[in-house]
Amino acid sequence: MTIRAHQRDRLETNPAFSTRRLKLGTFQTNLDSGCVMSDLDGRLDITWPNTVALAKLADAMEFEALVPVARWQGWGGKTNPQGPGFEAYTWAAGISGATQKAGVVSTSHITINHPIIAAKQSAVVDHISNGRFILNIVTGWVQPEIEMFGQPMLGHEDRYACAAEWLAIVKRLWTEDESFDHEGRFFKIKKGYLAPKPIQHPYPAIMNAGASDLGRHYAVKHCDLVFTVIRTGGLDECRAHVEAYHRLAREHYNRDIKVWTLVNIVMGETEKEARDFYNDYVHKRGDWEAAKNMVEIFSLETNKRNVPPERIKPLQEAFIQGWGGLPVVGTKEQVVDALTMLSKAGLDGVLVAFPRYEQGMREFRDVTYPLLKQAGLRDFV
Ligand SMILES: Cc1cc2nc3c(=O)[nH]c(=O)nc-3n(C[C@H](O)[C@H](O)[C@H](O)COP(=O)(O)O)c2cc1C
Repeated sequence: MTIRAHQRDRLETNPAFSTRRLKLGTFQTNLDSGCVMSDLDGRLDITWPNTVALAKLADAMEFEALVPVARWQGWGGKTNPQGPGFEAYTWAAGISGATQKAGVVSTSHITINHPIIAAKQSAVVDHISNGRFILNIVTGWVQPEIEMFGQPMLGHEDRYACAAEWLAIVKRLWTEDESFDHEGRFFKIKKGYLAPKPIQHPYPAIMNAGASDLGRHYAVKHCDLVFTVIRTGGLDECRAHVEAYHRLAREHYNRDIKVWTLVNIVMGETEKEARDFYNDYVHKRGDWEAAKNMVEIFSLETNKRNVPPERIKPLQEAFIQGWGGLPVVGTKEQVVDALTMLSKAGLDGVLVAFPRYEQGMREFRDVTYPLLKQAGLRDFV
């Protein structure tokens, strides 16, 4: 494949491919409330200066992935979490201009974002960031937001069929010099053309968080970074969970992938202080109405998740406390132990969220990050 004069090997330009033992990222910092559903004071109030402040804090610690969420409407309730928010590509463009080193993600719905526009916007953000761009592909599970566009919700299988066709087009646009026609099940393209090509060669890093059987196959077959939700803290279980992704990638597709997860850090001087804080913002101030709305949509038949009635309340709590991320509640030492455990379990990277995002990031920088470095988790290996 030709390397054009402006292009560079993505292993050199994109920090998501670095050899750092445990990579770090932020999550959902483009949306109001950040990762919580709670009336908590100090939660993310989505203004441009606030989202940039978070990106700059992450950049100063050389975080490898700033991950926005593609969301088009909120969850109602008292606080309408994730309602107000910045669109993911334009956010990524602005954040790329405001940062120097961090990997910057845009999140793209396959049916809402046409592949030519997605490929083009990705290329622009890759140029702005000088090769730090990562594309997160989402098939879309929030039926009302798909319907907001006047589109029918595709069935679960069709979403992944569409995602495969969508990505094949995007990759051709990123890599092929000749214009091409495409006549598929979901897209029709006449003389598809894209220039300039992205900075990253052969093409930008791609992430996906497919969770179902089909979703996992899609992620390990087509993507570089695979995101998974981990709901238990035990090392052996965690290791088995991560290894299952690597095995699937190796055995079915002969591929190497990186596996990442999401944690929500609730830190206190003592474990009791951290637990009291958790109880306050989740059980006293949590927006259970918004969480109920969200879990109802999450559990729709179209999402093929099979949520039994006894899982509904725990799921609501999981999303209230930190958008489904693994809760790490305790002292700074316990936070470092938890991150060390995740690294030992084979995770390549962890997105860190905090209930009060900016305050949490500052504490992380001042208190936790030095300990993580001491533990060797930020070494290049
Ligand atoms: C880290 C992470 C980021 C995600 N970002 C989004 C997003 O921005 N928008 C969205 O609609 N879904 C998002 N999702 C949901 C996934 O794209 C996917 O729909 C979900 O994991 C279910 O996959 P499945 O259909 O294979 O079960 C995200 C999931 C994770 C774990």
